[in-house]
Amino acid sequence: MRLSAAFVFLGLVVNAFSQSVDSYVNTEGPIAKAGLLANIGPNGSKAHGAKAGIVIASPSTSNPNYLYTWVRDSSLVFKVLIDQFTSGADTSLRPLIDDFLTAEARLQQTSNPSGTVTSGGLGEPKFNIDGTAFTDPWGRPQRDGPALRATALIAYANWLRANGNTTFVSNTLWPIIKLDLDYVADTWSQSTFDLWEEIDSDSFFTTAVQHRSLREGSILANALGQSSNDYDAEAGNALCFLQTYWNTKYIVSNTGGGRSGIDSNSVLASIHTFDVNAGCDATTFQPCSDKALANLKVYVDSFRSIYGINNGIAPNAAVATGRYPEDVYFGGHPWYLSTFAVAEQLYDALIVWNKQGSLTVTSISLPFFQQFSSDIAPGTYAAGSSQFNSLTSAIRNFADGFIAVNAKYTPSNGALDEQYDRNTGKPTSAVDLTWSYASALTVFSARKGVASPSWGGAGVKVPSTCATTVPVTFNVQATTQLGEDIFLVGSVPALQNWSTDKALLLSAANYPTWSITVNLPANSAVQYKFIRKFNGQVTWESDPNRQVNVPASGTFTENDTWR
Ligand code: NOJ
Ligand code: NOJ
Repeated sequence: MRLSAAFVFLGLVVNAFSQSVDSYVNTEGPIAKAGLLANIGPNGSKAHGAKAGIVIASPSTSNPNYLYTWVRDSSLVFKVLIDQFTSGADTSLRPLIDDFLTAEARLQQTSNPSGTVTSGGLGEPKFNIDGTAFTDPWGRPQRDGPALRATALIAYANWLRANGNTTFVSNTLWPIIKLDLDYVADTWSQSTFDLWEEIDSDSFFTTAVQHRSLREGSILANALGQSSNDYDAEAGNALCFLQTYWNTKYIVSNTGGGRSGIDSNSVLASIHTFDVNAGCDATTFQPCSDKALANLKVYVDSFRSIYGINNGIAPNAAVATGRYPEDVYFGGHPWYLSTFAVAEQLYDALIVWNKQGSLTVTSISLPFFQQFSSDIAPGTYAAGSSQFNSLTSAIRNFADGFIAVNAKYTPSNGALDEQYDRNTGKPTSAVDLTWSYASALTVFSARKGVASPSWGGAGVKVPSTCATTVPVTFNVQATTQLGEDIFLVGSVPALQNWSTDKALLLSAANYPTWSITVNLPANSAVQYKFIRKFNGQVTWESDPNRQVNVPASGTFTENDTWR
């Protein structure tokens, strides 16, 4: 008797809690949509000076100055709008989407410090809001941008094709998408600054979104009668490489930088490569896969003790989360978009479990599920079983908890900045972050059970033989004149097969030491040379070619002096 009264009481509490999350979602949804649109030029109320279709990251002009356009932020934002348009949720968005593709096509052609459209410029992370190049020092290149932009534009292309406008796709959209896909296929294995623009190494998010773009790019290429051979081959190679980030406990999001690698990079990758038809596939780290769930627990738990506002919260309840536990940027506080991403991964998982009518607990995901049922055992639980019912309702409640945490620290006008203070919960850093609003819109629709169209993630297989690679760092001492740069070329595809046009630019961050890290085939001998480029003129090092003997595993550093 007393027990059942307690259950009724708990039921009421859970119900009241989910109603308060409902009411936040209902009021915040339209505010987030309006906040996002306000940051798009030329007519957005906070985007003065931005060209048509240009997304500003935030209207903040100091501390930090975010009045620029990032390819990553813009592509994620427009993916939301394109999904709303193609699903019929908002049919008014088409002119804005057309502005976006025109603006991005111009940015592609804008020469910048990463290069020209054919020599690496597509990896440039950010531009001025009038569409001109940003030329100050920055963490460049960032190779997720072209992949994310291709993903957004492919979603639009697929809708246009289904609606009788294949001509426009073939003539106008495909050439733009192809530039990005070719860049991804050519360069995905090279090192990159991560999505936080801090570490130049391999980044899980970047590899994951690159893999996705190549798969859906291949499908679109075939539909248009174009060749997809390169995309298919490199998608397989990228999927091989994606497996190497898993350390048996969690996803090591960055291979460099000396951090734990526990990072919302991995959670964002899971939600932005979610395919509702891919089940709980762990090779693509789908939201309900055992690896992605185990990783999610490690990630969430890493913030329990470091943020004051998480004090006193039960170890299996939702907390505020940030980019990564070691973060110090603007104080290293919780981020709205990171905390929403946790909820979104869980709602995505629930969509698939309900769709497939079962949920599987493995030895890898056991610690995740034990948070909700201490005596749960590995196995498959069918919909309707008491285990399935209690786990899915506890997980939905857990997911709602992350929304409730963000709701608690959302000011009454609904504005979403970038971060909120780890001790006081006060919003901080960039105001009205466009990406924060986008992250609210995607999590709210996942909570309603809505999934984006598939990208072809179902049934993808890791190739039977994966070429293993070793990160090799090349350092070369070279004095140069202003405007002159040092590049690397060599005998393997990763070193551009001796092509001077596609040679890899080294970083001069530690001038006169020029550096780059490249993944080269393990256990192999690779020929290479450095070249100089000045005013388009190429100077080779003297003969003979240099050779690096790449070890079978680990890392390797080659120190040279210009010859
Ligand atoms: C800093 C974030 O780390 C990066 O991911 C983002 O692209 C820019 N701010 C702009 O929002
Ligand atoms: C042509 C260059 O002239 C030479 O110096 C270089 O070593 C080779 N390409 C690659 O074998």
